Amino acid sequence: MAESIVQFLQALEHALPAWLLFVGAILGHAYLMTIGLNVLYAWPLPHRVLKYTRKIDLLIILLGPALFFYALDFGDTQELTWTRGSLRSWLAPYCALCAIAGLAVAPVAQVFYWLRRQAPQLVETKSTTVDVAQALGYKPAGRGKQRGLALLPGNQCFEVEFTEKTLALPQLPAVWDGLTILHLTDLHLCGSPDRAFFQFVMSRCLEWNTPDLVALTGDVVDSSWHHRWIVPVLGKLRWTIGAFAILGNHDAWRDTGLIRRRLRRLRFDVLGNSWRQIDVRGEPLIVMGNETPWFKPAPDLSICPNVAGTLRVPSADDGTRSVPTTFRLLLSHTPDAIAWAQKNHVDLMLAGHVHGGQIRLPLIGSIFVPSRYSRRYDQGMFFEAPTVMHVGRGLSGQHPLRYFCRPEVTLLTLRKASKAHAGA
Ligand SMILES: [Fe+2]
Repeated sequence: MAESIVQFLQALEHALPAWLLFVGAILGHAYLMTIGLNVLYAWPLPHRVLKYTRKIDLLIILLGPALFFYALDFGDTQELTWTRGSLRSWLAPYCALCAIAGLAVAPVAQVFYWLRRQAPQLVETKSTTVDVAQALGYKPAGRGKQRGLALLPGNQCFEVEFTEKTLALPQLPAVWDGLTILHLTDLHLCGSPDRAFFQFVMSRCLEWNTPDLVALTGDVVDSSWHHRWIVPVLGKLRWTIGAFAILGNHDAWRDTGLIRRRLRRLRFDVLGNSWRQIDVRGEPLIVMGNETPWFKPAPDLSICPNVAGTLRVPSADDGTRSVPTTFRLLLSHTPDAIAWAQKNHVDLMLAGHVHGGQIRLPLIGSIFVPSRYSRRYDQGMFFEAPTVMHVGRGLSGQHPLRYFCRPEVTLLTLRKASKAHAGA
């Protein structure tokens, strides 16, 4: 086995310039370590474990060039030597794996990333960027531990994008045409940015017409002290029908009872892993919260009512099956719940957690995206039948770093569409 890998590498060496093999291996190494970190971050591991894992992972990525410089004997003869039993021969399988990943897998994955489709139900997007630092007259870096990062040159963490997105949904009750949902996610209240920054953003949201619903999809705080900001910041919001909230992984590392109580004081319905049926303009709406994998178990939908009856649709086994026709809205912190949403016939899912990657490279896009799907659902509107999913970039992060990835709040407007807009 080891011998055939060495032969494969020697064949590569003859087919490719040595420098290309070297660069490909380094790229593949960084690619594999990044994917590994992204997937690892999707798991509910202790905060401390994740913190050190990230640092170790970055260190291993940085050691890549030195590793391959030695393993490929690049600095010596420019001709690979693979003595059986030597350290180089032991490194050969990993060299081969990285070379394949860097020269073939990563470029193909990048093409698939570029070819991703936004949900066809998204019919209009309008966006305004507000430089909150300019509006306040100072850089609202605050006094958090990561204040220095917020002040780095070129950091866009104070440039907030106020985005309006219109969705055309054929299953929407006709009386809901024009229904609006303000989607807020990932505030990470921890001192940087300061309180004035968040209060400015909430006040600016009021320049839109008062939304019918407010959906807050987790990571509200990121310190043990700043739950005190929840009331003064989110207390500025207004809505006409209801406000719903769930918690995220960064909340899970704090006093969750306190966070939920503060939100309830503001009349947020804190869903946790549960569901509600509410009346919206005379029609039933099922609102679900899914805080897994950080809070378990997932919501029990066994008695979730199906007020509007059932719809018979074709099925592989008995010809037809019943699916709910009552509109289902899901708040999930992570987009990883998309498979759960599909299985449970969710019509519209709102998520955050991944922050758009926070640092996006021109052409390449996001890199670090804590999801079992890695970069696939990093930001935007996706359609995985029957679920339309909006993944917001959020307002901040544990580290207030934003490059080519501005903070974002989104106002969604739902429109009744004809079957032609179903996208299925
Ligand atoms: Fe977050």
